[in-house]
Amino acid sequence: MADQYADNGDSKRPTEIPALRWEEPPEGPVLVLLDQTRLPAEEVELVCTDAPALVEAIRSLAVRGAPLLGVAGAYGVALAAVRGYDVDEAAAALESARPTAVNLAVGVRRAHAAYRAVIADGGDPRQAAGAALAAARRLHREDAEASARMAGHGLALLDELLPAGGHRVLTHCNTGSLVSGGEGTAFAVALAAHRAGRLRRLWVDETRPLLQGARLTAYEAARSGMAYTLLTDSAAGSLFAAGEVDAVLVGADRIAADGSVANKVGSYPLAVLARYHHVPFIVVAPVTTVDPATPDGASIEVEQRPGHEVTEVTAPQVPVAGTEAGGGIPVAPLGTQAYNPAFDVTPPELVTAIVTEEGVVSPVTADALAALCARSRQV
Ligand code: MRU
Repeated sequence: MADQYADNGDSKRPTEIPALRWEEPPEGPVLVLLDQTRLPAEEVELVCTDAPALVEAIRSLAVRGAPLLGVAGAYGVALAAVRGYDVDEAAAALESARPTAVNLAVGVRRAHAAYRAVIADGGDPRQAAGAALAAARRLHREDAEASARMAGHGLALLDELLPAGGHRVLTHCNTGSLVSGGEGTAFAVALAAHRAGRLRRLWVDETRPLLQGARLTAYEAARSGMAYTLLTDSAAGSLFAAGEVDAVLVGADRIAADGSVANKVGSYPLAVLARYHHVPFIVVAPVTTVDPATPDGASIEVEQRPGHEVTEVTAPQVPVAGTEAGGGIPVAPLGTQAYNPAFDVTPPELVTAIVTEEGVVSPVTADALAALCARSRQV
């Protein structure tokens, strides 16, 4: 079945897509974001000069994906510090911009702690701002390194689980270089398989309602020259039934201490399908996504997003300021209520393995995750 699909990758385009960068023009430092709400139609940059602008970019999903939210949050603290704004206020606003991806809080707290440590030692705000920026740069670098290591561990796991090779991998949402300082999480594993000549096809869920799969993963897959095919989320069941999926690879926004995985809404149904069809369901995430302070899946706060994202189709998905609705084309009768959780939670018993930069956890248990976190703290 897969072979009937023409390869639609464009291998001539560069695979590196810097999702954000710090710049220091004469007017003062800025954080430059690739506005992901405008992709794939336009590659437009968004320049943030202060934390409120970054908070808005996070809420509108101009910058998104768990690891990148952490990096952006850290730079946001540095931006406030370097420009002389209230750093405590900026950190609080950034940390609460979106609730589910724990990486955001981790990134903000790291840069904030670096800033406060210098002040506590009697340093001046300029030195403290330098420390916050150094912390953000370090996190950015570490995230790129973690990507590369996750890709290596993930490919080894795929090869072990699927010795016949020719992997046909289904993925959901967007987990490549648009969400990372490196090549991402789940997508980085698929990319490693592609480079090793072992990826037969990447099945890309469109990922309703904001279409991160169609708009962003297909964009990244095309740039990487991968053989990929886009499907509606609801077509996944028939794809499994046809025997066309060898493994599911997804990222995570928060992994609770018991191994419950919050990820883009639609991940949990894939885990159920995967179990029914005896297909491995693999989660790829850096250790910073594991949150020992969240005991279980029920304790994870799932972000609820505006109903207009479901009742309207908009491209780009930028809400029109000052209106209740999003300014898109209505696809439901006016006044229709929508249920729009941004994430769902997959229980640990449905997760075959969690791949991190520190290694693979399988089976997924609270003890194994606690050991992983302890190991990573020692490094
Ligand atoms: O709402 P988004 O687009 O920020 O959601 C992103 C996801 O759910 C990703 O799958 C997750 O952050 C993992 S990315 C490495």
